[in-house]
Amino acid sequence: MKIGINRENAPGENRVAASPDLVSKLVSSGHDVAVQSGAGASAGFPDATYEETGASLGDSASSIAESSDLLLHVGRPSDKEIDAMQIGSALAATLDARRDAEAIEALANAGVTALAMDLVPRIARAQSMDVLSSQASIAGYKAALMAANALSRFFPMMMTAAGTIPPARVLILGAGVAGLQAIATAKRLGADVYAFDVRAAAGEQVESLGAKFIAPPDAADAETEGGYARAQTDDENERQRSFLADHVVRADAVITTAAIPGRQAPLLIETDTVAEMRPGSIIIDLAAETGGNVEATVAGEDVHVNGVTVKGPVNVPSLMPYHASVTYARNLESLLNLIIGEDLSLTLDFDDEVVDAMCVTHDGEIRGHTINR
Ligand code: NAI
Repeated sequence: MKIGINRENAPGENRVAASPDLVSKLVSSGHDVAVQSGAGASAGFPDATYEETGASLGDSASSIAESSDLLLHVGRPSDKEIDAMQIGSALAATLDARRDAEAIEALANAGVTALAMDLVPRIARAQSMDVLSSQASIAGYKAALMAANALSRFFPMMMTAAGTIPPARVLILGAGVAGLQAIATAKRLGADVYAFDVRAAAGEQVESLGAKFIAPPDAADAETEGGYARAQTDDENERQRSFLADHVVRADAVITTAAIPGRQAPLLIETDTVAEMRPGSIIIDLAAETGGNVEATVAGEDVHVNGVTVKGPVNVPSLMPYHASVTYARNLESLLNLIIGEDLSLTLDFDDEVVDAMCVTHDGEIRGHTINR
């Protein structure tokens, strides 16, 4: 099969879909792989590292898209690439498939079979393909480092000749994949860590990392059958914000990661609460791209409220592009093992719940049950 790997299109995107290690495995299996020149440069993979695998290098994204049976991307391909793709060819990429209806329509119109990496079901068998987890884990790690870096205090307790310094108090809101990694990283840096989530099961995970789980005494478990949180009612949201306000005000650094799949992020911290924090405190809002958990958040910017900095970083995994690309490529490798047959051609079994959930367009049709419309 002809497999193409193009440079990413989104501004500031440093990742690449396939590492030289994955490309080498694909070439050894007998695939014909083409990589766009410069595709891996920002992730630490110069062209030569791909050339060594036996892949060919090309300059034009459109020509690679046109000649590929399967195109691999981190994010959405450009309109030009989609136009160039052959009817019946396939794409695997993170497509923000629940929100970017325009891209899904363009792919269906082009007759492309699109597999959305962001729709891998959260089941044990599919864990190795789960890009949401691999990339969220990087975002959580990086968020803790950003907080430590921006804070004018130590994270760890220090016993020095100049006296004892207490550890920083760090509060993590949302203890899913990103939140748990932020907790683990802040703990390793020696901070005193507190965390909250609306899923009761998160409590045990938080405590197993040595952090303290906080929750309102009468909180109902909001975990759905799929393992995600359900959206809170207005009343629950209100009670949650007032419970959290006291903890937020006492924190030196707050990292927010709360999300509801396919929806606007829940508002957890109002500006009045931020204004009551100690000057010099830091908030890192990892939910900035979906509206933010903090009222003051502006995606991609630092906002200052009464001496408190609210950071709304976007595409955080791209800030650690080497390991973000390596893990993304490993997720892709697992997917390719599932969908490429022994004859080296694409074999999609729609009775397989992983393929069924991920495949958003096929044979010119949008497979609508996967998209919130
Ligand atoms: P996510 O990114 O959708 O949400 C992040 C966190 O925000 C979640 O823990 C959620 O409970 C929490 N949250 C939502 N609303 C909140 C609110 N109002 N206040 C506080 N917290 C709020 O979720 P993520 O991190 O992608 O994972 C969610 C679940 O999926 C977890 O239970 C995780 O263990 C499970 N999972 C299962 C996998 C598998 O079996 N293959 C792989 C990855 C995750």
